[in-house]
Amino acid sequence: MNTKQSPFRQDLLQDKVVLVTGGGTGICYEIAQEMGRHGARLMLMGRRRDVLEKACQNLTSQGIKANFFAGDVRQYSEAEQAVKATLEHFGGLSILVNGAAGNFLCPTDVLSANGFKTVIDIDINGTFNMCRASFELLKKNTTSVILNISATLHYQGTPMQAHVMAAKAGIDALGRNLACEWGPFGIRVVTIAPGAIEGTEGMRRLAPLGASEKIAAEVPLRRMGTTQDIAHAALFLSSEAASYITGEVLVVDGAQWLVKPNLVSREMWEKFSAMEKAQKKN
Ligand code: COA
Repeated sequence: MNTKQSPFRQDLLQDKVVLVTGGGTGICYEIAQEMGRHGARLMLMGRRRDVLEKACQNLTSQGIKANFFAGDVRQYSEAEQAVKATLEHFGGLSILVNGAAGNFLCPTDVLSANGFKTVIDIDINGTFNMCRASFELLKKNTTSVILNISATLHYQGTPMQAHVMAAKAGIDALGRNLACEWGPFGIRVVTIAPGAIEGTEGMRRLAPLGASEKIAAEVPLRRMGTTQDIAHAALFLSSEAASYITGEVLVVDGAQWLVKPNLVSREMWEKFSAMEKAQKKN
C-alpha cells in the first residue's frame, strides 16, 4: 500500500497535459495518478477500454481531469489518433509517458519468433510510434518531456528474458538518440528503470511461485519497490527540478541490480583473516 505523503509541491505539474501509455494499471496508473494529484490533466492509453474506463473513474473521483483513448501502440495510426484525441480534449501535450510493455518468462530456446517480435513491437516500436506521433505537439511548448519506462534486466544476462532485454536496451538507446535530436526543440527525454515493484503485473509474471518473497531480502535497501517510488521519480524527472537532465536513465531499484552473489560469507572472511593474522605473527 502506498502511504507516503508526497514530498512535492501540489502544483508541480499544474495544467500540464500528460499522455500515458499503459496508464490503466500498475506502475503507469500510479504515475498518472501522482501527476494528476500534482495538477496535470491526463489522457490514458491502453488496449482495454473497460480497464481504462475504470481507471478514469478512479481518477476523476479524486478531482483529477482524466480521459482515455483505447488503442494499441504497435499501430502507428492508433498512436496518431491518441495524440489527436489528447489535442482535441486538452488543447495540447506537455508530457508523454511511454509505459506500455509486454513481458513473460520464456527460455530463449523455446521462444517463438512471433513471441520475440511481439515484445519488440510493443516496447520499442510502440515507444517510437508514440514519440514520433507526439513530436509536432511536444515541440510547440518550450519545455516538453518524454518519459520512457525501461528496466534493469538488460544490464546483466537475465534468464528467460532475451526478448525483454533486447527491447529495453532499444528503449534506452532510443531515449539517448531523441535527447540529442529533439533537445534543440525543447524536448527532454528521460527514462526510469524500475526494479522489482510489488503488486504489479510485471512481478506476477516474472516472479511466480513465491519468487518475489526472496527479492526483498536481496535488495540492499531490504524491501521491494512500490509503484509510488516510481511515480515520485517520474514527478521529479518530468518537473522543472530536472530541467537540465535529459538522455539519462534513472535506476529506481534499491540497488538490486548492483548486487553480485557473495561467494565468501562473513564467517569465512573472519576465519580467513584470523588465519592470515596468525601466519604473520609466526
Ligand atoms: N511464453 C512464451 N510465448 C508466449 C507467451 C509466454 N508466456 N505469451 C505469449 N507468447 C507468444 C505467443 O505464443 C505468440 O507467439 P506464436 O504466434 O509463435 O505462438 C506471441 O507471443 C504473441 O502472443 P499473443 O498472445 O498473440 O500476443 P498479444 O499481443 O495478445 O499479447 C503479450 C502480448 C504476449 C506480451 C501479452 O502477455 C500482453 O498483452 N502483455 C501485456 C501486459 C504485460 O505484459 N505486462 C507486464 C509488463 S512488465
